[in-house]
Amino acid sequence: MWAHESDCIDCKRLQRLAIPSRQRFASYDAHLRNWSSVNTKLATGNFAYLPTMEVIAREAGALLMEFFDKHIKIEYKGEADLVTAADRKSEALIRERIRAQWPGHDVLGEEEGLRDTGSEYRWYVDPLDGTTNFAHGFPVFCVSMALQYKNERIAGLCYDPTRDELFTAERGKGAHLNTRRIHVSKVDKLVESLVGTGFPSHKRHKNPNIHFYHQITLRSHGVRRAGSAALDLCSVASGRLDGFWEINLNPWDTAAGVLIVEEAGGRVTDFGGGQFQLNSRETLASNGLLHDALIHEFQEIFAGRGLEPLPDPREYART
Ligand code: IPD
Ligand code: CA
Ligand code: CA
Repeated sequence: MWAHESDCIDCKRLQRLAIPSRQRFASYDAHLRNWSSVNTKLATGNFAYLPTMEVIAREAGALLMEFFDKHIKIEYKGEADLVTAADRKSEALIRERIRAQWPGHDVLGEEEGLRDTGSEYRWYVDPLDGTTNFAHGFPVFCVSMALQYKNERIAGLCYDPTRDELFTAERGKGAHLNTRRIHVSKVDKLVESLVGTGFPSHKRHKNPNIHFYHQITLRSHGVRRAGSAALDLCSVASGRLDGFWEINLNPWDTAAGVLIVEEAGGRVTDFGGGQFQLNSRETLASNGLLHDALIHEFQEIFAGRGLEPLPDPREYART
């Protein structure tokens, strides 16, 4: 651990931020309270991971917010697959903090890949989930971190710095939004549900999701596409959405959010109802009540049965 007052980047950053002073001091106080609770837990040996994860995620979130208001340079990993200095700096910071706290743990992060020493502990880090939103100034993005021990995810969080919303879960201990316990929704009819999905920025031409988007839109109150899979999962966990699906997500997108959904009482599987795996091509999350209906619809769409045809745009063309 580093000496708090002299070395804490978060303290320095909070002091520098051009936000109204009352708000700045409230954040600063909360930060110090957090820090002292982490220190107490370390000193007494009563250590849980989440308090330290929270400090790290808030620090990364503050860093992202510093970049957010500036016009930052976008680089391209692929045709529409963006990366920014904020993604890289946030991951470097999170890795550095994990290394300082838990030097023996392995880390899989989106930008720097896998550090694999054979540890039984592995972190999954998405330093900025929602890069396309972030790069365009659309305020929907988060930091996502999860810890796995012996192939089981034991703790996860997603921090949305634009709303100061921290979603957390520890296996067997429920899910929380800030200090409030959260639960999935009780909507039990697809036709009355609001669901979410996402489209990858990588290999877009090969992604068939537009068909699922179209069909489920016509069978529900609507399908939202917010642009951060980790936050979409947290929306299912907190009842803001009743379900969510996406094709070809990566482990760093889902590791925290899936645990948060499960701990909030929801269900996550592949599209056929099989066990969700981190390297699964399919992620289907719901409040549990809608799960079978969604699986049924997906099977129908895969089989090409009962599909509502897309309207032909030529019929709407001005002559
Ligand atoms: C992306 C977001 C988006 C999802 C994409 C992901 P990134 O992550 O989660 O919502 O639709 O599939 O790749 O690239 O912003 O970290
Ligand atoms: Ca992501
Ligand atoms: Ca990312």
